[in-house]
Amino acid sequence: MNLRIPGPTPVPDEVAQAGAAEMIDHRGPEFAAMMERVTTGVRDIFQTTNDLVILTTSGSGAMEAAVVNHLSPDEPVLVCTIGEFGKRFLELTEVYGARPTELAFEAGEPADPNRIEEALKANPQIRTVLVTHNETSTGTTNPLKDIAAAVKGAGRFLIVDAISSLSSIPVEVDNWKLDVVLSGSQKGWMVAPGLAFVSMSEESWEVQKRTTTPRFYLDLKRAQDSAARGQTPWTPAVSLFFQMDKALELIKSEGIENVYARHHRHGERVRQGMQAMGLQLFSREGFRSDTVTAVLCPEGIDVANLRKIARTEFKTVLAGGQGPLASKIFRFGHLGYCTDEDVEAGLKAVEQTLQRLEYKAPARA
Ligand SMILES: Cc1ncc(COP(=O)(O)O)c(C=O)c1O
Repeated sequence: MNLRIPGPTPVPDEVAQAGAAEMIDHRGPEFAAMMERVTTGVRDIFQTTNDLVILTTSGSGAMEAAVVNHLSPDEPVLVCTIGEFGKRFLELTEVYGARPTELAFEAGEPADPNRIEEALKANPQIRTVLVTHNETSTGTTNPLKDIAAAVKGAGRFLIVDAISSLSSIPVEVDNWKLDVVLSGSQKGWMVAPGLAFVSMSEESWEVQKRTTTPRFYLDLKRAQDSAARGQTPWTPAVSLFFQMDKALELIKSEGIENVYARHHRHGERVRQGMQAMGLQLFSREGFRSDTVTAVLCPEGIDVANLRKIARTEFKTVLAGGQGPLASKIFRFGHLGYCTDEDVEAGLKAVEQTLQRLEYKAPARA
């Protein structure tokens, strides 16, 4: 199967095999050494010297960790939403009793840093801003550097969901002064789902001290204290650490700049290939994601049917839309372990599926 969804992504054989290694003592020296290697490797890709912990949870667990460790009940917070994952952040703040102001942008559009700046000026009581870097549900990459300049320029605290971008699209945590940054193993990292990464600035530790929301499993201070001893507070997904250890080796041998260049090249190729079939891309030009492409499903074609034919007849798994976009778009993932051949085969499968559905491309295509 050509797994062309935006996570979980294919796992290279070497990584899968690494995960099958004999179990070890998670409180022993071997694990401590591996944890140190993996943490250092991930931190390098985050481009940060900040503390970074690895949690055994999916990406949403990291989002929850960011919220419970940095926001208190009744605390006002600004949540910028450009799609479903932004909405998830919003929901989390509501569930834990914070008082969110949503700054929503239309699906397919990026967040506008000027409007964020204005919102912060108008709401001096807001201390914290939550934003998604790469909105997987719409295939849109936010201008994070500019957003960070607006938020940090206004002296606020910034939490970033970089779950589907980090390790595929450059994120400069230190240079852009990002306070809390999240990612997840099943995206660009070429590892099975189940580990999440959280980097925390010095200010994060100050904020955590005054945060009154109860937390236990996702307490970042506990994670950091255990990490100092080469451990995790709870039993970690040891096999996924084995996988990460190997995947980081592969990323290192390819070279992270080459990894970014490959993602950009694949993004460009998929965008060009879809448009050559006469299809329309969903997100705004200039902000289209290099990890996932969202495509408007042509009139008269049912997304579920298109995905079913692609899967059963052309061995290609595409993603549908989420939430209000469920019947409007399909998504093609090109992140993580993805070769030129995978991209070409995926595009071919989309073309054949459309032919099978008797789609007629507009004349200009
Ligand atoms: C941008 C973004 N945020 C959050 C998540 C949630 O992560 P998970 O599904 O691992 O809980 C995802 C996963 O698709 C994502 O793409």
